[in-house]
Amino acid sequence: MNKNSLVSIRDLSKDDMIHILNDALMFSNSQSDWQLPDKALIANLFFEASTRTHYSFESAELQLGCKVADIATNASSVTKGETLYDTCKTLESAGYNALVIRSSKEFYWNELEGLNIPVLNAGDGANEHPTQCLLDLLTIYKEFHKLEGIKVVICGDVAHSRVAQSDKYAFELFGMDVKFAGPKEFERDGYPFVDFDEALKDADVVMMLRIQKERGAALSNMNDAEYLEKYGMNQRRYAMLKDNAIIMHPAPVNRGVEIDTDLVEAEKSRIFQQMHNGMLVRKAVIKRAFGHAPFEEE
Ligand code: CP
Repeated sequence: MNKNSLVSIRDLSKDDMIHILNDALMFSNSQSDWQLPDKALIANLFFEASTRTHYSFESAELQLGCKVADIATNASSVTKGETLYDTCKTLESAGYNALVIRSSKEFYWNELEGLNIPVLNAGDGANEHPTQCLLDLLTIYKEFHKLEGIKVVICGDVAHSRVAQSDKYAFELFGMDVKFAGPKEFERDGYPFVDFDEALKDADVVMMLRIQKERGAALSNMNDAEYLEKYGMNQRRYAMLKDNAIIMHPAPVNRGVEIDTDLVEAEKSRIFQQMHNGMLVRKAVIKRAFGHAPFEEE
């Protein structure tokens, strides 16, 4: 695998993450017009549905001056039985310089060892979502101007959440206190659940997760309104939050299920700011993929 790939958040040291966050911050001010000098040709392969990750990668690529091919994966030769490796090697042979890949197959990159160009993981099944993790770190850092000591509670379908898995690793690396909550059916090994109401009273960040029905998640014992009451961010819980606490959600949001529709853009919500930060982080990750050193800190 090319050394500039980013397939797991575990590929990055704490310093690497700090450099990416700093580059992302600089892309929002002094380096907003910076472009890759490489005439880069990037192929985006999304084998699973995506709005935020797909189109913020594309926005980042275009802003950096890259040429972009959105591969129509459902019309590619994968449908004729071609392996992911052969598809990616074909794109490399055709002159593409980097690949952004989302797949439902966990650890799909293990099949791509013979590839020479960098791969950026845009999410693999319930395993990892490294750029979502970086944008979550950036959102928290922008809010609190620090990461160490920040108290986070992540509530919902943790069992199927690649975001929870990447975030837990990186948040704990930065000395954040991370708790998990939700229905017992959605507990994941190594992520013991606590009482949501107790945890959110003390939390700086409350992150809500969607029930991932596409991965088989289901609760037969409650409807949407009951879920919102028992485990969602509703008006009662919003009123319990600390004054400076924020709400996050990787989205897409199921309004009226894990969050009251009126709270999606409430004062404490940072959901759409997360999406903007995603574009900034992806610019930084693409810059790194092409071997460019971090910007000098200002
Ligand atoms: N957060 C996230 O990955 O959203 P998409 O599935 O829309 O990319």
